[in-house]
Amino acid sequence: MLILAPMQGLTELLFRRAFHRCYPGAFDLAVSPFLSLTDGNLRNAGKKVEDVLPELNAGSMPVVPQVLGHNADGFVDLANRLNELGYSEVNWNMGCPMRRVAAKHRGSGILPFPDEVRSILDSVVPRLKTALSVKVRLGYISPDEIDAIVPILNDYPLASVTVHPRTGKQVYSGQVNLQKFSEILPSIKHRVVYNGDVCSVYDYRRIRSLFPAVKDVMIGRGALYNPLLPTQIRTECPDDFGPAAAAAPQGVPSAQQFIVALVDDILRLEISNQAKIRKIKEYWCLLSKALPGTEERKRRLLHADDLDAILRLIDEMTK
Ligand SMILES: Cc1cc2nc3c(=O)[nH]c(=O)nc-3n(C[C@H](O)[C@H](O)[C@H](O)COP(=O)(O)O)c2cc1C
Repeated sequence: MLILAPMQGLTELLFRRAFHRCYPGAFDLAVSPFLSLTDGNLRNAGKKVEDVLPELNAGSMPVVPQVLGHNADGFVDLANRLNELGYSEVNWNMGCPMRRVAAKHRGSGILPFPDEVRSILDSVVPRLKTALSVKVRLGYISPDEIDAIVPILNDYPLASVTVHPRTGKQVYSGQVNLQKFSEILPSIKHRVVYNGDVCSVYDYRRIRSLFPAVKDVMIGRGALYNPLLPTQIRTECPDDFGPAAAAAPQGVPSAQQFIVALVDDILRLEISNQAKIRKIKEYWCLLSKALPGTEERKRRLLHADDLDAILRLIDEMTK
């Protein structure tokens, strides 16, 4: 399975819909950017919750909502409301590296505290109406923190364990620790999803050949650097993917066409021009890597502050 990674502000509904329109079936599944327990009432809460409303996700890829938090009652409440919306699985975020999140033992900040992990799972799992999957890092400070977490995860019926083999302190930089990943992999009883730095077909093949037991790969930044990546993986690694592999890439939209489709969707949002500019620029930082041309030329867009000028630059660079 190829899974689109949750990326707050990036792999939100807007992106998932445009992606699915251009590359239907390229990702089997997406995990949504996290909902905090404070996002509360699903029907009335703001934009964050719209992201997983099933009626809005109808034209998108299947999604598993992700929840961030460590309050067991709040978790059960939110997960069971998601179940009422039709979701059969929720994902627990045990990987977020942001300091203000981790400081409260949320995200990867819970990994140095295995007793807390056990106590939350003890309280949450029997009360959930959905299946539960988790997304973890190797630790917050030390990659060895995972050693005490795995036996706990093994004691509960989890749908999958996604491992991003970095520590929280590393955030997204430095190397992924494949040595440590290979050490813990045999001890995880659940289906393991690998996540981290898969940005090319080569990277994908390398992970699959290093870890044949891992059948599922989650891709984040790689899909923004090159939106064709999951399609290319399916085409070039047909042994992994059934009949879908035969369908690409003839007639598949180019990265340029995808960027134009996404920008069109941003322009249709009911938000101010300033907010549209901010959003286009956030995506541009990653998506422009898919385009030919010099970095200096691509940076011109980031310095522009007028929507028409930005659209002209996009037009020039996506021709
Ligand atoms: C801007 C940004 C936002 C992210 N938001 C989330 C999130 O909401 N939940 C989560 O579990 N991981 C989040 N991540 C981590 C990604 O899901 C993923 O684990 C990470 O980017 C490594 O995978 P990649 O190398 O394929 O990008 C975020 C990453 C980035 C860069």
